[in-house]
Amino acid sequence: MARSIAVLASGSGSNFQAIAEAFLDPGRNPGGHRVALLVCDKPGAGCLDQAARLGIPSALVPYAKGGSAEVRQAAERAMTDALVAAGADLVVLAGFMRILTPSFVRRWTGRLVNIHPALLPRHPGAHGIADSFASGDAELGVTVHWVDEGVDTGAVIAQRSFLRPPGLTLAEAETRIHTVEHELYPSTVLHLLEALS
Ligand code: GRF
Repeated sequence: MARSIAVLASGSGSNFQAIAEAFLDPGRNPGGHRVALLVCDKPGAGCLDQAARLGIPSALVPYAKGGSAEVRQAAERAMTDALVAAGADLVVLAGFMRILTPSFVRRWTGRLVNIHPALLPRHPGAHGIADSFASGDAELGVTVHWVDEGVDTGAVIAQRSFLRPPGLTLAEAETRIHTVEHELYPSTVLHLLEALS
């Protein structure tokens, strides 16, 4: 049965774009699963332009930075209402830069996935690429994982790594890690939906 996902993003939306394009390709998405909604917390973010270009509905949810608990809870209630209205079977975080509250995570537990630009459990947090680059790790890579109440602590669903070539620069590492993300995330999400069907 065809399923729907919603993507939550805050930034340029390159992972959102990779996912949306994979879903539009019948060769990669023979089940006809849909990207039903983009939720973005940041006015003017590139992901909103991507959604408009791809014809995917989007919702801008006010999620004031440093806001009170009440503001965060109101924003998350608005997100849950939008996700339910969109019929989201899976909620896909793609560079969503807010830490979700335990109550939101519990509401979507088992249906909430994230991508992290490092090989968890190494280098969690907001600087996964810089931290893994600065480490002596021989392998770099990305992780798709379930979201739990911690920061990048949920069970790993899929990882892909590459050996650090001699002389790799930070800019080259970023490019390579994003390329790996754009391959791994869409295929992993589609596999998860096939397992639900
Ligand atoms: C990606 O590197 C992802 O791993 C991290 O945030 C970044 C989002 O980039 N969680 P984009 O907005 O998808 O281009």
